[in-house]
Amino acid sequence: MPYNSRTTVRVFIVATIIIYIIMLFLNSDGRGIYISQIQKKMQKIKTNIEADQSKPESGNEPPTVGESGGTLEQRNPMASVGGSRGTLKRRLPTAIIIGVGKCGTSALIHMLSMHPQIVEAPGEVEYFSRKLTYFSYGLEWYRKRMPLSYEDQITIEKTPQYFKIPGASNRIFEYNATIHLILIVKDPVERLISRYAHDKNVKNGKIKPFEELVIDSNGAVNIQDHQVMLGIYWRYLKDYLEVFQRDQILVVDGKKLVQNPVPVIEKVEKFLKVNESITTSQFYFNETKGFWCSVTFGCMGANKGLKHEDVRPEVISILRKFYAPHNKEFYKLTGINFKWPEK
Ligand SMILES: *[C@@H]1O[C@H](CO)[C@@H](O)[C@H](O)[C@H]1NC(C)=O
Ligand SMILES: *[C@@H]1O[C@H](CO)[C@@H](O)[C@H](O)[C@H]1NC(C)=O
Ligand SMILES: *[C@@H]1O[C@H](CO)[C@@H](O)[C@H](O)[C@H]1NC(C)=O
Repeated sequence: MPYNSRTTVRVFIVATIIIYIIMLFLNSDGRGIYISQIQKKMQKIKTNIEADQSKPESGNEPPTVGESGGTLEQRNPMASVGGSRGTLKRRLPTAIIIGVGKCGTSALIHMLSMHPQIVEAPGEVEYFSRKLTYFSYGLEWYRKRMPLSYEDQITIEKTPQYFKIPGASNRIFEYNATIHLILIVKDPVERLISRYAHDKNVKNGKIKPFEELVIDSNGAVNIQDHQVMLGIYWRYLKDYLEVFQRDQILVVDGKKLVQNPVPVIEKVEKFLKVNESITTSQFYFNETKGFWCSVTFGCMGANKGLKHEDVRPEVISILRKFYAPHNKEFYKLTGINFKWPEK
């Protein structure tokens, strides 16, 4: 081949490659088709992983509702009773459990789903917490995540991320300004420990020691740690109270739910204006687990892994003192004194 035409071929190939690369990386939102596809895929994988992680740790996980397991009738024997209940279809939720993660959100929603008038969305929907993805897909996307229900049933979903993601409260308010919100909480120190045990489990133990994560080099609480900060509940609740009325948010004690579920569930039933139908006869106490289990669905995720005893008392004390003023602020905002230890 003569020199000139070889050069032309080379220039042509290089130009083609450059144009191809430019086309791959550029699109209207400036991030590149290729990149955004990868990001979408990664997002999807991440969501799947998070969905897995958010399931109760126990192997006796109750079946989820809807497409992924357990028909409405299996889960809820009353569901097929009576022909005057209207059509069975997917309805948008009128109640949402907004958090806090690791405080019993899964146990609560599974217990509530034992109620003939309540149906739960499977997994964590994350509609209001993912502004650029799920939320941008619109209400029909949201509706499709909901289980089938009759007219006289309430659809409820739970997404702990709603509590902490800025803007989620506003988006929920715009969706339904009179919606019923449920917030379940535990002593932030217990939450932190239980969150750590969960992460440790997920990461097969490949995680820094608890103390190293939550205490900084000066011996103070590490406020750079996201999980530490999440325990300052009042900061996040404030966002909700800026738009919602206080009585639209039921604040549930996660510890009481574990110790004696029925009285707590009764409060939720009242709040949601459904009949009081969940009774003690639907639960039994598992001595080994130290946990209430449903007669129908078995045991809900109990705290296994790291216990209080595994964390040095000094560290517990530092954490409790750190949270004490924040807890007081939270009691003030909620009007409930949870009496979490202060030292
Ligand atoms: C908003 O939520 C309330 C409380 O659950 C419910 O009564 C109402 O029907 C909902 N509104 C819409 C438009 O879904
Ligand atoms: C709720 O309770 C009322 C009064 O006890 C009863 O008439 C009604 O049928 C119950 N509704 C459902 C859905 O169980
Ligand atoms: C009680 O809990 C233990 C430990 O998780 C479990 O192995 C056992 O099957 C449970 N028993 C019942 C009756 O649920």
